[in-house]
Amino acid sequence: MTKRVYLETVGCQMNVLDSELIVSGLVQAGYEVVDSPRNADAILYNTCSVRQHAEDKIYSALGRLRPLKERRPETIIGVLGCMAQKDQNLIFRRAGHVDLVVGPGQIGRLPEILEQVAAQRFREPRLEVSLDRMKERRSLVEESFVKFDPPRPAELRASAFQAMVRIMFGCDKFCTYCIVPTVRGPEQSRPAAEVVAEARRLAADGCLEITLLGQTVNSYKDASEGRILRLSDLLVRLNEIDGLRRIKFVTNYPRHMSDDLLQAVRDLPKVSPYLHVPVQSGSNEQLKRMKRGYTVESYREMIERIRAIVPAAAVTSDFIVGFSGETEEDFRQSVELVRWARFKNSFIFKYSERPGTKAADALPDDVPDEVKRRRNNELLAVQNAISLEDNRPLVGQDIEVLVEGPSKSAQKRPPAGDEIVQLVGRSVTDHIVVFDGTRTLVGRILPVRIEKADAFTLYGRVGAGK
Ligand code: 5AD
Ligand code: SF4
Repeated sequence: MTKRVYLETVGCQMNVLDSELIVSGLVQAGYEVVDSPRNADAILYNTCSVRQHAEDKIYSALGRLRPLKERRPETIIGVLGCMAQKDQNLIFRRAGHVDLVVGPGQIGRLPEILEQVAAQRFREPRLEVSLDRMKERRSLVEESFVKFDPPRPAELRASAFQAMVRIMFGCDKFCTYCIVPTVRGPEQSRPAAEVVAEARRLAADGCLEITLLGQTVNSYKDASEGRILRLSDLLVRLNEIDGLRRIKFVTNYPRHMSDDLLQAVRDLPKVSPYLHVPVQSGSNEQLKRMKRGYTVESYREMIERIRAIVPAAAVTSDFIVGFSGETEEDFRQSVELVRWARFKNSFIFKYSERPGTKAADALPDDVPDEVKRRRNNELLAVQNAISLEDNRPLVGQDIEVLVEGPSKSAQKRPPAGDEIVQLVGRSVTDHIVVFDGTRTLVGRILPVRIEKADAFTLYGRVGAGK
């Protein structure tokens, strides 16, 4: 009998990629993926720990499964990913009906683990996590994060013509607020040859766009070929792959935005001029408390280098508001930086204290929530006004768009042959473009004449001006 599995994912692109790989592994092991927990034999959550809110959502989803588990005790309930690595046995204590807890460094073994749990007559809680990097030797910890990037068939990817490719695991930066280095383990780069082989396979499968993933993707460093290969070297190799049209990479660390990388973005036609370089704060005092390793002045100097070397680049950022000790003056400096840098967009987060980080140990979470909320809204309003101002001049231009699919509203209607629907695509600078067309355009790269713009979206027409 086919076993049915339900998988829900929260969190970043790294998690989305992990889930894709999990699904691919499970389908190849004979599972069927279903879209509701109600009729599943295994219910799995791939979780995130970066903010408290993401964890709360998972714990309440687990709570809601209690009646189902009482009715059907044979149903396997599993917690995977970052929260699994962070909370470990705490998850069994808080949600006694959970059967397995599997960290991000163990997900490659999931088919085997599920098999074993299902075969047990009397189920013991099953904990599969990687070693604690604060307690064990680095080489052992590195090994305990099992590398897992198997080939996956096109039909099991979220999109046939776009794919994410992991180039780095983990993070070594230890910014004081961040749980990532603890739950995703030590920073390790995948060998360039392996990345190139994966990208070739994807391109041969019809993939037009790849997005390289790493927590600090621009500190990529591969020594497996007897010399150091950097991200710029990797991009040169990927740029040569036939069939590939676009290469993006996220997320960048400001201090590693070197000239060779910017020159690669400028010179390699397939590399998209889109740079996500989170700054987190516009105040030197805050950057120091966050242990970010740069100053506002050096960040500005980096932005100036980007503008000089790749003038067409769209630069985006992340900000944390209300981090420990943030004064109105600190916050005002973040606003000023947004005004100065004119990011294409910024992701803004209210500081959320994470147990296990340096900030949780040593820096009080002392900005009241309503102040965090107000600062979040204020910074967002400033950013949105800039996004709108910078999008407006795009009206009248033809922009190359990779057509991703029908828009959310169009998806609700059943597909009907050559019917005109609302489609969504993205430009090389990661601008979202909405326009009308038939579903046959999905997966094509074509020029769209922009007719209208708001802060988040460009609206246009295909074939106009021809
Ligand atoms: N609280 C709020 N935001 C955080 N981020 C990381 N850790 C925290 C935290 N503890 C944000 C950072 C990072 C993005 C992915 O999430 O801005 O760049
Ligand atoms: Fe977290 Fe800092 Fe690493 Fe980014 S660079 S993942 S914010 S520790």
